[in-house]
Amino acid sequence: MEVKHLAIIMDGNGRWAQKRLKPRFFGHQEGAKKIQNITESCLYLGIKYLSLYAFSTENWKRPQKEIDFLIQLLNQYLTQKKQIYLDSNIRFRSIGDISIFPQKLQAKIKELENFTKHCNKLTQILALNYGSKDELRRTFLKLHKNNSIITQESITQSLDTADFPEVDMLIRTGGEQRLSNFLLWQSAYAELFFTKTLWPDFSHKELAQMLEEFSLRQRRFGGI
Ligand code: IPE
Ligand code: IPE
Ligand code: MG
Repeated sequence: MEVKHLAIIMDGNGRWAQKRLKPRFFGHQEGAKKIQNITESCLYLGIKYLSLYAFSTENWKRPQKEIDFLIQLLNQYLTQKKQIYLDSNIRFRSIGDISIFPQKLQAKIKELENFTKHCNKLTQILALNYGSKDELRRTFLKLHKNNSIITQESITQSLDTADFPEVDMLIRTGGEQRLSNFLLWQSAYAELFFTKTLWPDFSHKELAQMLEEFSLRQRRFGGI
């Protein structure tokens, strides 16, 4: 079975920098560069949906200076990537509650989504102020307001990820073996991969090896 939707928890930027006696910001910068690299790998490998955990609803607990840097980095990323997305036929989408970000940043996110809406080789989904529990809360609220019946389908179709298939494969870099509130509903039957490699060191080679292992796994979905 092929991987249609790959989700990645890009963890380990801070430790990558600390190992080099550099400030954590430095790791985030390298991590942002790695996004481009791995997205190109996914294009090459024929993956149609790539979800990347960039900022969680829990990351607000970090020092304000680090939060400010991450927001600035996101701003810069969205500006720089415009042409690349278009040239590579990549559709950009965001998930998470972006209403908390500055108006200008929200507009930039929407603009890039609009700008690339005809692109169809790969959809890159950036999780921004995303947390599964918050997404479910917002979804249930929406369904309740619309007097909708609650079924697995109606929930799935009202999530931030309504337009995307469920996650086939989930990778977490950085050595921790947990989901940290990422795509819990969508990953119900995902194959999980954990690697000690820190995100800025993650490579096409390691991704290709994981996909190889994925192809050997037997997905039963509860059957026999
Ligand atoms: C992941 O790297 C990136 C974000 C959460 C934005 P971390 O910043 O969590 O790096 P470590 O886990 O501290 O090394
Ligand atoms: C998960 O990493 C969030 C992102 C990669 C954006 P964290 O570093 O925030 O996760 P915990 O705190 O180790 O669980
Ligand atoms: Mg971390």
